[in-house]
Amino acid sequence: KPLVFSGMQPSGDLHLGNYLGALVNWVRMQETHDTIFCVVDMHAITVWQDPAALQKAIREVTAAYIASGIDPERSILFNQSQVHEHAELAWVFNCVARIGWMNRMTQFKDKAGKDKENASLGLFAYPSLMAADILAYRATHVPVGEDQKQHLELTRDIAIKFNNDYAERIAALGHGDAFFPVTEPVISGPATRVMSLRDGTKKMSKSDPSDYSRINLVDDADTIAQKVRKARTDPEALPSEEAGLKGRAEADNLVGIFAALSGRTKADILAEFGGGQFSGFKSALADLAVAKLSPITMEMKRLVSDPAEIDRILARGSERARAIARPVMDQVKDIVGFIRS
Ligand code: TYM
Repeated sequence: KPLVFSGMQPSGDLHLGNYLGALVNWVRMQETHDTIFCVVDMHAITVWQDPAALQKAIREVTAAYIASGIDPERSILFNQSQVHEHAELAWVFNCVARIGWMNRMTQFKDKAGKDKENASLGLFAYPSLMAADILAYRATHVPVGEDQKQHLELTRDIAIKFNNDYAERIAALGHGDAFFPVTEPVISGPATRVMSLRDGTKKMSKSDPSDYSRINLVDDADTIAQKVRKARTDPEALPSEEAGLKGRAEADNLVGIFAALSGRTKADILAEFGGGQFSGFKSALADLAVAKLSPITMEMKRLVSDPAEIDRILARGSERARAIARPVMDQVKDIVGFIRS
């Protein structure tokens, strides 16, 4: 049966890229799949997090999921560190994955920067924990933005190597010819890679020093409008057809955001705004962004005002998650040859 798993790091405010690249697809997939959504707090500490800020961020990300339409009854919603099977399985995967595979990860290179010797070992092993997140539930579909594609390929490689290395044992224990599924990435919609509002060649990111590069889910209406107004563009008018967006990264990005927020296609947006100046388009985009995001922001604020309730939701979600992950981890222990009581 298809099972969806995905997660976000509680390290700083969520932004429009997280929302359009991932969250909107998650909400949609609740209708058609069994869904598990995680706040990956263990991934967050691969770079330094202030403890009090981390706790606050875990609750805020949880609130953002719910405010965006994740139903904690229908979906399993929890934080990673409460389900210790993630850490246990990650260790096994650290012994399956090869150092050479990790060395190819572009996100590690980006995040570690120049001083690689001084990056945490956790940051290097990050993708192995991500594979454990997914495969602890034997999830088959993982909705993410474009930037996670390489990590999901590595998840597939780990599943395949585990299935091969332990093939005899897997068969002998009655699991057939594969224990872990080879997971499908789900990268869909007009905004799988939302770019910075200041530079159309960089992706929108929590770590960009300029707050004007991104729209945060906690931004108020005036801030959103101002950020859209100030977004970088080129001097040409908007094209009337999609082909005209080629080589115009900033224009392409704004049209993609408009399309994603309105549930329309880029072609449709250009049919309406093509030939016109950016100013008119930008004010329509600002109105749209405010209309879509302010109810979410308001609901997030309401939810975080009751941290005990959020913690209760996470505790309940963690119990439900463990009920699935625990028997999988027990089977992994038997496959690997550990003794358990
Ligand atoms: P994270 O926390 O960086 O981002 C969360 C989700 O948002 C997407 N995203 C974007 N999509 C479009 N445009 C952007 N500019 C943009 N920026 C971020 C990401 O692709 C992601 O889907 N490693 C993951 C978290 C993770 C995970 C997992 C995901 C841990 N375990 C298991 C799926 C399954 C990460 O750092 O995402």
